[in-house]
Amino acid sequence: MKKGLFITFEGIDGSGKSTQLELLKEDLNKSKIDFLIIREPGGTLISEQIRQILLDGKNQEMTPETELLLFEAARAQLVDQVVFPALNEGKMVISDRFFDSTTAYQGFGRNKDVEFIQKLNTFATKDLMPDLTFYFDISLNTALKRLNARKHKSDRLDVEGENFLEKTRQGYLQIAASDKNRVKIINAEQTVDEVYKELKAYLIQAIELGGNI
Ligand SMILES: Nc1ncnc2c1ncn2[C@@H]1O[C@H](COP(=O)(O)OP(=O)(O)OP(=O)(O)O)[C@@H](O)[C@H]1O
Ligand SMILES: [Mg+2]
Repeated sequence: MKKGLFITFEGIDGSGKSTQLELLKEDLNKSKIDFLIIREPGGTLISEQIRQILLDGKNQEMTPETELLLFEAARAQLVDQVVFPALNEGKMVISDRFFDSTTAYQGFGRNKDVEFIQKLNTFATKDLMPDLTFYFDISLNTALKRLNARKHKSDRLDVEGENFLEKTRQGYLQIAASDKNRVKIINAEQTVDEVYKELKAYLIQAIELGGNI
């Protein structure tokens, strides 16, 4: 059975992941490609319950360790119940955030043991690795400007300082540098259309190569 392509979108808050995913969804709807779009944390009954705990503003006393393990627990459930079955059916699965978010935010952002977190990622996902990851790189300045302009509710994870987000961005850049084949850095400071054009070029390339996966 042909395995579908697994694609993940990564980047700090306000880098444009959801905006780009909407554009891709429109294109995929017009194509013959069978696809599934998911976002983390969430996507199963259990994972959505965990999401509520993670986002709940009342949970201020949550320790970094608890937070890390909850993200991994939500992911483990999602991969087992949703991602593997879809890929095995040959579907393309696209996820708004995946384990690089945990490495970047909970590892680099919070100064925790990055190698250990990467092992946890592997454990939670039973070695599932995205075929292609788009990392939308953006300066903190631009990201904050966009977030301020966006009408959005703030949750527990939104109230982090700028220093945390800068460390997270640097973490993403390190992840991308250490896995150049998988992680494509896209300059997310460009216009929405320019960003999408770059993304699509990489995607077409991956779909063409996908026959060999
Ligand atoms: N290339 C762009 N140029 C200007 N504004 C943009 C661009 N891409 C997205 N935006 C705007 O910036 C805001 C943040 O974008 P978006 O919600 O897609 O980011 P995100 O990466 O999904 O953020 P989060 O991690 O918080 O979900 C939105 O208001 C969106 O319309
Ligand atoms: Mg988003």
